[in-house]
Amino acid sequence: MSIAHGVKLLGVLGAGQMGTGIAFVSALRAKVPVLLHDKSKDQVARGLALMDKLLSKDVAKGRIQSNEAQEARDRVRVVDALDDMYDVDMVIEAVSENLDLKKTVFRSFSEKLRPDAILATNTSSISVTKIAASVVPEGVSAASAEGQAATGRVVGLHFFNPVPVMKLVELISAVQTTPETLARARAFAEACGKEVTTSQDVPGFVSNALLMPFINEAIMCLEKGVATRDDIDKTFRLGMNHPMGPLQLADFIGLDTCLAIQKTLYTGTSDSKYRPSVLLERMVDAQWLGKKSGKGFYEYTDD
Ligand code: 3HC
Repeated sequence: MSIAHGVKLLGVLGAGQMGTGIAFVSALRAKVPVLLHDKSKDQVARGLALMDKLLSKDVAKGRIQSNEAQEARDRVRVVDALDDMYDVDMVIEAVSENLDLKKTVFRSFSEKLRPDAILATNTSSISVTKIAASVVPEGVSAASAEGQAATGRVVGLHFFNPVPVMKLVELISAVQTTPETLARARAFAEACGKEVTTSQDVPGFVSNALLMPFINEAIMCLEKGVATRDDIDKTFRLGMNHPMGPLQLADFIGLDTCLAIQKTLYTGTSDSKYRPSVLLERMVDAQWLGKKSGKGFYEYTDD
């Protein structure tokens, strides 16, 4: 039996690539009003500019009417403080991959949001169970009814970059997540036009547990001189019909993000197959972070 998501007002925390994309599909496809918050005003301005560009392109391509674009744009409201966000039915957190930061944010939302509101994280590899555990109120046992009510509404909603284009959302069930939270989160992702797969809360979930060793092996091939950068990528573009080869994809995701996910996989499993390559570590040391910094395995200009 399908269940309604019940989201009449959504909060999106973080206006980077992921947060902006999530706000965009929520406003345009799910037609849900969105409150968007980021502590950086520049980040918000860049996010809104990207949304305007994407909406104009959809109108120019005849996919939507201009009034639909305007309505979608009007559904997104920027709020300057977290305090302005506490009336939402669901919050999707898309801040940087830092467990302490996520814990702080979740604790504050958990204290203020209505009891039936959902707390979703777009984490790409951090344990959703750990994040959920952080919302247990002070002095309350995690296993008590009150503790389980607090943690049962935390869920992972892992979107893929670029969010408006990629068709998948990976739904992550923490140990504590209730079936109702899972069903509502799934219904919301579907309302955003996404297909949904489910993963248990293991390091990297299904997607990054498989993708990151692949990217890492490609970097090791380059490191060992097995093949050139272009031949490694061409092998996958032409031999397997991947839209991007693994090195280009690593640049696209961000080499710092790839390294952070690989470290989470390695420490979370102690399995040597997840050990990040030295070359990846050194490139991040050099701040060659891929597309976003203008240099990674490839060079990028602004246009
Ligand atoms: N935001 C929104 N839309 C974008 C976009 C962006 N950042 N970048 C590209 N697009 C849109 C374009 O506007 C275009 O839309 P249109 O068909 O309406 O005109 C469409 O995507 C195709 O773009 P282009 O023609 O410019 O370029 P390509 O055909 O080369 O496609 C791509 C670009 C969609 C990025 C494609 O190369 C691709 O699918 N690459 C693989 C991406 C991927 O694997 N993403 C997952 C990364 S892993 C992840 O996110 C998980 C995390 O946890 C690490």
